[in-house]
Amino acid sequence: MAKYIVEQSGPLRGEVQISGAKNAVLPLMAAALLSEEECVIRDVPDLRDVSLMREILSSLGSQIEEIDENVLSIHTRDILSTEADFELVNKMRASILVMGPLLARKGRAVIPMPGGCAIGARPIDLHLKGFEALGAQIVKNDEAGFVEAVAGPQGLIGETIYLDFPSVGATENIMMAAVLADGTTYIENAAEEPEIVDLANFLNKMGAKIKGAGTDTIKIEGVEGLGGAKHTVIPDRIEAATFMLAAAITRGAVHICNAVPDHLKPVIAKLRECGVRIEVGDDDLIVRGDLGPQYATDIKTLPYPGFPTDIQSPFMAYLTTVEGSSTVIETVFENRFMHVAQLGKMGAIIETAGNKANVRGNAKLRGCHVMATDLRAGAALVLAGLAAEGTTEISEIYHIERGYEKFIEKFNSLGAHITRVDD
Ligand code: UD1
Repeated sequence: MAKYIVEQSGPLRGEVQISGAKNAVLPLMAAALLSEEECVIRDVPDLRDVSLMREILSSLGSQIEEIDENVLSIHTRDILSTEADFELVNKMRASILVMGPLLARKGRAVIPMPGGCAIGARPIDLHLKGFEALGAQIVKNDEAGFVEAVAGPQGLIGETIYLDFPSVGATENIMMAAVLADGTTYIENAAEEPEIVDLANFLNKMGAKIKGAGTDTIKIEGVEGLGGAKHTVIPDRIEAATFMLAAAITRGAVHICNAVPDHLKPVIAKLRECGVRIEVGDDDLIVRGDLGPQYATDIKTLPYPGFPTDIQSPFMAYLTTVEGSSTVIETVFENRFMHVAQLGKMGAIIETAGNKANVRGNAKLRGCHVMATDLRAGAALVLAGLAAEGTTEISEIYHIERGYEKFIEKFNSLGAHITRVDD
């Protein structure tokens, strides 16, 4: 098993290019299943999750080619199977996103219950509730571990669907199912994340009629069929935030290029509260952690435009290094404090009670052997490793490689010393 060896770093300095967003590209790839014409997606990050999605789409009948660096052509002349492969789906929760397109195009989808990060129970009830509202029959086989959705004889029918929680995946899946439905669908209490807007823009380029993406009510007028489209993935706001924190935790100065500052408002606001200076451009940010002392702040994760849960653990790593105590409240996932024990091994003092953590600042972090328990927890440990005295050895790094493109190369180009070793 491969590991990262992270040496204590001085202030990171330089420029970093942010890749296309993992959480945007996965639904875009799934959406390509909706058309028999070719779709071209640019700025596709080279990630394990993207490779897995490629495998899943290929197994369903898509022809996929990398026609240029970070450019994928996906052509699904016909869907050859409506049953997603158990092994593949089990490796990645986002593979559930093929369900909506399969149901829309073929009237049937069979999906094993999905895997992914161990950050909570992560049920798919809201996805299924949406499909059911559109007229699909849902059959769950808990013993065999799969779920089947079958459209009625008239296909899917537009309906108003209220989500009990603004789930990102459920909003995307229902949107993709509804684009070919008969009539109009409204998704109420929809997720408002930028990745939802990116998906709606792509679907509209394919010929869908979607309005309101990015607000809490999305209107989808069903159309007869979708064509091909060309699209560039939005920049990864979570990767951008990770490098903003890298500048802050090393008291360095990093120019973050190819970012959408609007997508980063809560992270910018919170880092400024801590004393980090941030200059915001049209598509870039300069993050100055080298201009004076930094102080505690409180954060509470929420659906967009609230503070992103995916940045909670990297931000917590940073908060261990500032003056004063901070409170961190996680409201999106019920089990997203697994990094606390790992940061504790490095000398952080963090007390948790339920979904609340009290983070003591000014920690004397020391390098040791820690384990990436999920993707973002892994990123948090890399950040902590940069600030810790000595050498930090991080195992289970496959989690990190699921979601960050050229992670080590990017850090090292800023002056970090991180190596990847095979055990
Ligand atoms: C997506 C992101 C993930 C991010 C999360 C929240 C992708 C590929 N992943 O995950 O990085 O952390 O949004 O911003 O885009 N829930 C239910 N029932 C459902 C669906 C979700 O109860 O049917 C719950 C989940 O257990 C969780 C909460 O809703 O507590 C949020 O989940 P959701 O927004 O669906 O996250 P994902 O789409 O899985």
